[in-house]
Order: sequence, then C-alpha cells, then structure tokens
Amino acid sequence: MHIHKYEKWWLTFGISSLVLFLFIVGFSAFHYGSHPPTGKVYIDPERVDEIVPFNNPGVQKVEGKEWDYEVVLVASAFYYNPPEIEVPLGSTVKFIATTKDVVHGFQIVGTNINMILEPGYVSEYVTTVDKSGEFLILCNEYCGIGHSTMTSMLKVVE
Ligand code: CUA
Repeated sequence: MHIHKYEKWWLTFGISSLVLFLFIVGFSAFHYGSHPPTGKVYIDPERVDEIVPFNNPGVQKVEGKEWDYEVVLVASAFYYNPPEIEVPLGSTVKFIATTKDVVHGFQIVGTNINMILEPGYVSEYVTTVDKSGEFLILCNEYCGIGHSTMTSMLKVVE
C-alpha cells in the first residue's frame, strides 16, 4: 500500500499528539493524584450524613470568621441538599460541599464559582456575593441518567 508523504507526516503528527496528551493527562492524574483543587479535607463518603457539618446542610450565619455565612451542601444523584440557597447581598460566603456517591459538579452560572465534588473530599470556596438576583446552580460533571436535571438555585437578596 502506498501512503503519500504528507499523509505519513500527518499520521505521525496526529498519533504523537495523542500519545503526548494521554501522557499529560495520565501523569497529572496518577502522579499528583486527581482530586479537587481545594480538597485538603477528607471525609468518609458513606457516613456523610453523620459527620459535622454535613449532618445539617443549609445556610448558617457565623461570627468571628473571615466570612459571614457558611453554606453546607451535600450533593447526591441527582440533587443538592439544600435545594435552594439564600444569602444577603454583599456578604462573604464560604461554600463547604461534598458528595455522597459519585463525582458531581457545583457551578453557579454567571459567577466564577465552579467546584468539582469528589466522594471522599470536601470542596471549599469563599466568595463575596456582589450581584443580587437568582443564579442557577448546576452539575457540570456527568453523573448519570438524571445529570441534566441536577440543579439548585442561589438567591442573593438585598
Ligand atoms: Cu451530578 Cu451531573
């Protein structure tokens, strides 16, 4: 079989890039350990409901911390608990989240809040809410048949 010279170049280029990218993905996953960027806290995913603070998900006002509110959030197929979050405009909020089963996402549309929730890890993010309104929260990691219906709502009220 005769393969044109340029065809060979492209084949070599294509296969080499594939191998290179697979190497990069594999290296970062296995060498560094694939986990959420903020996942320094570990949790037993099978006992999430019993472990503080996840035994009581919801919004809580806190005193004496660098943030005003803590939002404790448990994700599971295919919903978030609490199903709705309400915080006052201008407050600093710490999101503390985990998942009970598979990998889920936590993205608040229209903001820069986007966390991966992995079983066994606690993902945290501190932000100041400076826009009022309703923001859709959605799961952006494919988690199963109900993935596309996995949503929640952040309400920032004045
Ligand atoms: Cu949870 Cu997709």
